[in-house]
Amino acid sequence: MIENFEIIHYKEVTSTNDIAKKIIDENKNFCNKVIFAEYQTQGRGYATNTWISDARQNFLMSIIICPELAAHQQFYISKAISLEIIEYLKNKNISAKIKWPNDILVNQNKIAGILIENSILGNNIQSSIIGIGMNINQVEFHGVSNVTSLHKENGTEYDLIKELNIFLSFRTKFLNLCINKNFEELDELYFSNLFGTHNFHKYRDKTGTFQAIVSGVDEFGRLVLTDKKQQKRTYGFKEVELIQ
Ligand code: BTN
Repeated sequence: MIENFEIIHYKEVTSTNDIAKKIIDENKNFCNKVIFAEYQTQGRGYATNTWISDARQNFLMSIIICPELAAHQQFYISKAISLEIIEYLKNKNISAKIKWPNDILVNQNKIAGILIENSILGNNIQSSIIGIGMNINQVEFHGVSNVTSLHKENGTEYDLIKELNIFLSFRTKFLNLCINKNFEELDELYFSNLFGTHNFHKYRDKTGTFQAIVSGVDEFGRLVLTDKKQQKRTYGFKEVELIQ
């Protein structure tokens, strides 16, 4: 059970995920810490992507948790944190969807991204670094399209630290569901907030493009699509791309 997070505030770092890794390597007490930075010089996105954010505008953080989960259950951490972001936005009257595996969208524009890096020993997760970039006050994205922020959606400028504390207060609801292994509840909540479950969208895999509907995410965290011929197609990370 996570009771409290200790927030460590930095003005500038390379990447909060890198600082979290360093803290894990150098300290005995590393669980339930949040590394929050005002600016990242080498913010990392999923796979080889970068994560760019103006200084003091957005959430740039890494949460370190130490759940007693088996390695094959690691996607539940992603499910829990995605739901935490959805709930936070819902409280701001914003309806968001989870685009598998790590994006949070508002009207198909990205408002947040998640980069989880787990350390695994044998079959178990030793520690999990949950990197979160969420656009809060930034309104100009320097030519990058299909992105949004809380400010863009609501027209309001927010106090970042106040918002960080509000955001972290939802942990008991979702991260603890994961830590307590309430997987069925997490599965249901995750599916009901998943993008693309109601309408057909265009996807591309190594064989070409096709229309499909999202049928779910399997026990290994893979995306399951059903195409127009009622054929099920299962994909790991980066094996399929949503086109529109
Ligand atoms: C993605 O959408 O590709 C994932 C983006 C994750 C960005 C966050 S910002 C805080 C943490 N530190 C990083 O370097 N990346 C994550």
